[in-house]
Amino acid sequence: GKSLHPSDFAPALLLLVLSCPLWHVSQAVPVMSKGQMTDSCVLYARTLLQNITDALAQRNLFSGIDCKEQSMQLNTKSNTPSVCAPKESTCSGNTVSEFNLESCLTNIGEDLQHYYKFVVAQSDPDCPLGPAVLFSLRELMENCFAWSLLSDWTSEQVAADGQCTYDERLSLCKILKGFQVRTITINRVIGYLNSGEH
Ligand SMILES: *[C@@H]1O[C@H](CO)[C@@H](O)[C@H](O)[C@H]1NC(C)=O
Repeated sequence: GKSLHPSDFAPALLLLVLSCPLWHVSQAVPVMSKGQMTDSCVLYARTLLQNITDALAQRNLFSGIDCKEQSMQLNTKSNTPSVCAPKESTCSGNTVSEFNLESCLTNIGEDLQHYYKFVVAQSDPDCPLGPAVLFSLRELMENCFAWSLLSDWTSEQVAADGQCTYDERLSLCKILKGFQVRTITINRVIGYLNSGEH
C-alpha cells in the first residue's frame, strides 16, 4: 500500500504528532496474549489510517468546507494517549513510570467501538463516507481487538434522512479528523506492542 507521508496531514495535526515524537523506552513490555499485536495488526491499523486520510480528502463530500483548516473533535470518553504512553517514556514533560497494558487496551477498545458506531451511523448514501473506513476499522477490530467487539453490530444504524447538509458535512469533517489523530496514536501503540514481542 501507499506509505504515509507527513504532508498527508494538516500542519496543526503534524505539530500535535511531533510534540511527542519519540517514546524513549528502556524496558520491554511483558508479553500477554490479549495485547499481542502481530505484524498484520500493524498493517490493519496502517490501512485504517490511510483510508481515513483518503476519506478526509474527498472533494465532493467536503466541498465548500476547507476540512484541513477545521478544528478536530476528539473522542473525550477515552484517555488513550495518556493511558497508553509507554513505560519510561517522556511525553509532554511528564515521565510515565508504568505502562498499564490492560487499561491501554480498554481505552483503545472504547475508541474503536465509539468510532465504529459513528461510521455505521454515517452510512447515509446522501452523505457518503465510502465503505473503506468501515471495512478497515472492522478488520482491525475483528483481527486484533476481538474482545472489544460489540455484541450487536447493527443496533446503532441510523436511517438515512436523504439530506447531507453543510452542518452535517462540517461535523463529519471534524469528527473524522479526531478519528485520524486517535488512529495515529493507536498505530503507535500497536507498533510499540508489536516490537515488544520480538
Ligand atoms: C484503504 O487503504 C489501503 C492501504 O492504503 C488501500 O490499499 C485500499 O485500497 C484502501 N481502500 C479503499 C477502498 O480505498
